[in-house]
Parts: sequence; C-alpha cells; structure tokens
Amino acid sequence: MFLASLLLGASAVASVHAASSSFPAGVIATGTQGVTNPPVPTMPTTINQTSMARLLSLNSIDDFCLFAPPTGPSVIGNTETEEVAWCTKPRNGARVIPDGTITGVTFLKTDFYVQIMGTGDFTKLNIQSGDQGGELDPHGATGAGNPVGGNVTTNIVDGLDEPIAEWMLYIDFNQFCVRACTNANSTYAAEFMCWHELDEMGCEFVMPGVYNPPGTFESCDADVAYPPGWYPTATVAGTTSFSTFAQFFTGVFTGADGQPTPFTVGDTVTPSAPFSTPSSSNCVTQATISNGIALASLSSGAVGTAPPTNLPTGGASGSPGATRGTSAAASQGSPSGKMLLFPCIC
Ligand SMILES: *[C@@H]1O[C@H](CO)[C@@H](O)[C@H](O)[C@H]1NC(C)=O
Ligand SMILES: *[C@@H]1O[C@H](CO)[C@@H](O)[C@H](O)[C@H]1NC(C)=O
Ligand SMILES: *[C@@H]1O[C@H](CO)[C@@H](O)[C@H](O)[C@H]1NC(C)=O
Repeated sequence: MFLASLLLGASAVASVHAASSSFPAGVIATGTQGVTNPPVPTMPTTINQTSMARLLSLNSIDDFCLFAPPTGPSVIGNTETEEVAWCTKPRNGARVIPDGTITGVTFLKTDFYVQIMGTGDFTKLNIQSGDQGGELDPHGATGAGNPVGGNVTTNIVDGLDEPIAEWMLYIDFNQFCVRACTNANSTYAAEFMCWHELDEMGCEFVMPGVYNPPGTFESCDADVAYPPGWYPTATVAGTTSFSTFAQFFTGVFTGADGQPTPFTVGDTVTPSAPFSTPSSSNCVTQATISNGIALASLSSGAVGTAPPTNLPTGGASGSPGATRGTSAAASQGSPSGKMLLFPCIC
C-alpha cells in the first residue's frame, strides 16, 4: 500500500520534473522553498536591489549567485541568518551583482558537485572591507539554513533547474567558494561531500581545486575531491577506508536548566592541507563576465528592468594583491564558527 502510493507519487512528480527521480537519495531538496524566494528559478526577473530573495542558481561561469548581506558594511559572521542572493544575471527576483565586482571566476563541473571559486570586491555586496568571512549552508543553528530560507539550484546535471539539498558557500570581502552537491554513492553521501562543519578551514581546504589569481575566468571539468576533512588510509579489496578531521572547537553550551557548560569537540591537531587537489580538464577561458546592466543609473534601492545601455566591463577593478581572507589562517577565530558548530553537539 505504502509502496504503491510512493510509486504513484514519484511518477506524478516525474511528469513535471522529469529527471529528479534518477538522483540518489539525499541529493534533491524535497522541502519547501524559502518564504522570500520565487517558487522556481526564473530569468529574467525585474531588478530589485533591495530584494530579500534567497535563491541561488549555480549554472555556469556567468550565471550564478552568491549570498551576501542585505545592508552594509556588514561582517558575514554577524549576518549569516539574513544574507540575500546576489546574481550575475537578473534572475530569481534577487539582486544583481554589479559589473566589475567579480575579478576572477573558476567554474568546475564534477561528477559529484558543481563548484565555483572567485575573487572580487565584495564590499560592493555589503561585506565590510577586511572581513574574514564565514560559511553558509542549509543547516545553521536552527536547522532552517544560514541564511534562513536560503536555497540552491543547478542545471548542470540534466539541463533542468534541480533543487539541491546540500551546499556550502564561503565568502569574505575579496574571495568566495561555493559547492552544490549533485550526486552521491555509498561511499560519498551528499551531506559529506558538502560537509558544513569546517567553517574555519577556508576555501582551499574545504573545496580543493585549481585556484586561479584574479583576472582569470575559466570553466572546467574537474576530478572529484575527497569529502572535506576525509583522508584515505588504506584500500583493501577495492574498498577505501578514511580518517576524518573534525574542526577543533571549545565553547560554552547553555542547557535547558540555564547553566553554562563548557565543551570541546574536534581534533586537537589541525591538518594544513587536504589530502589532494583534484585536477581540472577541458578548461575554457574567457576575458571576463558582465551583464551590461547599468545599475549605477538606478538609485540605491531602485527597481527597474534596465536593458543593457552602455556596457561596463567587469574584471578591471579589484585588488589582485589583496590577502586571501577565506584562507585557513586568516579565518581562524572567525565568529561564524561559533554559531555553526552548535548543531553538532546534539
Ligand atoms: C530550502 O531550504 C530549506 C532549509 O535548508 C530546506 O529545508 C528546503 O528543502 C529547501 N527547499 C528547496 C526547494 O530547495
Ligand atoms: C523589492 O524587494 C523588497 C524586499 O523583498 C520588496 O519589499 C519590494 O516590494 C520589492 N519591489 C518590487 C517592485 O518588487
Ligand atoms: C563513489 O564515487 C567515488 C568517486 O567517483 C569513487 O571513488 C568510489 O569508488 C565510489 N564508490 C562506490 C561504492 O562506487
């Protein structure tokens, strides 16, 4: 009886959303869309630079979105619950990333995830200059996501906008990396490939890959990394064993009785690097990315459809010599770590 209705349900869904039924368990988000989001990814949408929409689409080197603060200058660690979507194109009812903000992008498509890394001047997205950033994911202190109601789709697997259950995004004032986990097998569950509890380790540790300096715009296929913090130890009869690293953290937990209790989680020895860096292949480079939308002609908070008029080019501004704020060393002590680790003491 239950099986029959389950199958009926699956075929009903399949008629509107052909391919989702072929995804492994845990990959496709089955819950409802965040309340500030459109029901499905949509493009184009009216430009609204005060939008509170929180739906990211991660589709290509010039069609992706980031989470950043709604107002600024703000530090990510203090605004994780309220970040909003900023997109390279006018989509999802979200804000548009101004041309010239992004100074480099590497887009990677792998068998298990889509990953985008980049550099830019994210003070233009309300992040305080020098902010060492933080980590955003669909879990958060309350389980409703950081930001609350934040959602992610990608069309890289089958050309359809698939809602993705597990993702992670690190952003600071001049660097970002984001991964959405599009596949799973019995070795790599989606939640492990997008593991969200290494928020002080930085992009190159958590999302290894070929990180290019600013000025490079590159789209590649790439090998699959080991899940964040996983180190292969031995392979016996074709099965690999792993050790896993848990970020060290001490804190104070206030229990139901109101009494503060100190606690410690994680490993005392922090590794300096992931086990390996996956190779990229089939790379295609381009000069820059831009949308040609003259946002400056819209006053702050303005709404408009802003057809391309003059075409400012992205990629020229920014500070190539700036320090990498999302590096592991730079983000030690990031206030974001403290909030995000509470769920794991349950
Ligand atoms: C939206 O995000 C929430 C919180 O993470 C999640 O429970 C829900 O499944 C997501 N919905 C979609 C359609 O992605
Ligand atoms: C722009 O977004 C804000 C915040 O969601 C909303 O209050 C406002 O109505 C939107 N404007 C338009 C024209 O959609
Ligand atoms: C899962 O996929 C990874 C990456 O391709 C692979 O190394 C591993 O052997 C796969 N596991 C199984 C059980 O097929």
